[in-house]
Amino acid sequence: MHEFNSRVAIEQMLIVGGSRGIGLAVAEYYHTRVKNLVCVSRTRSKFGRWIEADVADNRGIDRACEPFANQPLDALLYLGGTWEKNAFTSDYAFANSSDDEIDRVIAVNLIAPIKFTRRLIPSLQKSPIRKVIFIGSLSGLENQASREVANTASKFGLRGAAQALQIELKQTGIGLTVINPGNVATPEVLDDIATGTFSEQVPIPLSDLIAVIDCTLSLSPASYLPEINLAQIQ
Ligand SMILES: NC(=O)c1ccc[n+]([C@@H]2O[C@H](COP(=O)([O-])OP(=O)(O)OC[C@H]3O[C@@H](n4cnc5c(N)ncnc54)[C@H](OP(=O)(O)O)[C@@H]3O)[C@@H](O)[C@H]2O)c1
Repeated sequence: MHEFNSRVAIEQMLIVGGSRGIGLAVAEYYHTRVKNLVCVSRTRSKFGRWIEADVADNRGIDRACEPFANQPLDALLYLGGTWEKNAFTSDYAFANSSDDEIDRVIAVNLIAPIKFTRRLIPSLQKSPIRKVIFIGSLSGLENQASREVANTASKFGLRGAAQALQIELKQTGIGLTVINPGNVATPEVLDDIATGTFSEQVPIPLSDLIAVIDCTLSLSPASYLPEINLAQIQ
């Protein structure tokens, strides 16, 4: 007989971007399921132990990783992110995007996840689970760009970073997954649909995204899901 109940319980989890939107919903789901949940953001997280940090800044990333220094980390969930002013509306114009805005979007969405992963390699190696999840976007796929230049570049780049990291970290046993969703039913997206900023559509329920994360984290250390595209039907 095969053993089908060999899942190892997740005890140590770090969520970047746990104060709002997708990260908040994922933190709410896991806070009673994991022993030690740490959430990182600039504004207070409702769930887990909150570390106040701006991840666009190296010192912020250092501070966010501190709780896991010399400690095991089962799962790093990089779920935070940012985008340009007026992004995804007709008011966005690349020509009006400042250098600071471009720097910030790429720092938070692309550079920070790379730096978090590097700092946390020793902690992930101490875990029997060793999973990293980055939140991408369908607009980061080939030839599916949206007009927001820095945001699209960051999401496209994140996929390349994950592929390179997977090769480089093969001997560590760490598995990296990029989840690329369409519009997810966060309060902000629901509001944008209700006010007509977004066209009429059915966004992806947060529970679907959580199901995908849970599946990714339930895999044994022998396998990983490199990339998951989660699209809307309508
Ligand atoms: N919602 C969607 O439909 C959707 C679809 C596809 C992809 N995504 C991606 O999913 C990610 C999250 O989206 P969301 O809708 O959940 O956004 P959100 O509601 O705006 O939440 C963003 C989270 O990231 C954190 N964050 C942003 N900048 C930060 C910084 N400099 N330092 C620390 N934390 C920072 C925020 O915390 P603080 O502001 O408190 O710092 C917040 O917790 C983004 O990368 C987005 O591109 C979202």
